[in-house]
Amino acid sequence: MIVVRTLSELSGRIQEFKKKGRSLGFVPTMGFLHDGHRELMRRARPESDVLVVSIFVNPTQFNDKEDFKKYPKNESGDLDICKNEKVDLVFLPESSEIYPEESTIQPVIRIPELMNKLCGATRPGHFEGVLLIITKLFLRVLPDRAYFGLKDYQQYILIKNYLASIGFPVDVIGVPTVREESGLAMSSRNSRLSNEELEDATLISRALNLAQKNIRTKNISISEAREIIRDILLSSPRIRIDYVEILGADHLEEVEDFHSDTLIAIAVFLGSVRLIDNIVMEKK
Ligand code: PAJ
Repeated sequence: MIVVRTLSELSGRIQEFKKKGRSLGFVPTMGFLHDGHRELMRRARPESDVLVVSIFVNPTQFNDKEDFKKYPKNESGDLDICKNEKVDLVFLPESSEIYPEESTIQPVIRIPELMNKLCGATRPGHFEGVLLIITKLFLRVLPDRAYFGLKDYQQYILIKNYLASIGFPVDVIGVPTVREESGLAMSSRNSRLSNEELEDATLISRALNLAQKNIRTKNISISEAREIIRDILLSSPRIRIDYVEILGADHLEEVEDFHSDTLIAIAVFLGSVRLIDNIVMEKK
């Protein structure tokens, strides 16, 4: 496994692979890797000749400075996981490599109809930071296929539509959410939860499942489904709801019923930790 830390080294290696006609799969991450990230690598591994993983805690996508400072890191553990998953190349840059201090301009990429809602509404600037780092990484890695978790559903839809809209020749593949046995969606941020909070966090997937069951078996409305979810979440005094939303799954548009594929998405705070989860329901 090759580990590179500079953009010029990365481009050199990528050019070598391209010259040999190798296809490239890419899994971008912010590290502190867990089984969710692993699942992306496992899906990607057999589909391309070369598997590239990036590990970079991207400062521009953190609207909360404390959250950025507290973001967990484990470089040697991450490299072990990548080796185990037969990754060919890991890109592990310093921040100054990606955002040189002498550079005073920073482009802003916006797709308002996909960015102004859900996490984009409550984390101003977050998705601008995501699209900027994705642009910088993709222009260097030049992947044929890229893999994103459906846990971050809005991110997946946004990146897929963004890359298609600028004509970037890449297949963007969404990978189902990997969960703990308790149902809690795996996340690097789970490591910051106390045992009590971890217990409460299981209410998130339980709320999603119960809403789904009620939608399937009873003729409940969108607002009734949201109420069911809110009631379950608020049964814990420690949970603060950021949003509970039900939207069209393809373009995150407002919907009035469950006759098209729908996204049920939740964001909550447990203490200072923000957790998100969702399910996509096929149309009734
Ligand atoms: P990060 O949170 O490290 O996640 C990297 C990738 O792993 C994302 O595509 C995310 O959706 C996926 N992932 C995380 N938890 C998952 C789970 N439980 N099941 C399945 N997939 C999961 O998302 C980012 O980093 C950044 O925003 C990034 C895209 C790297 C840009 O900086």
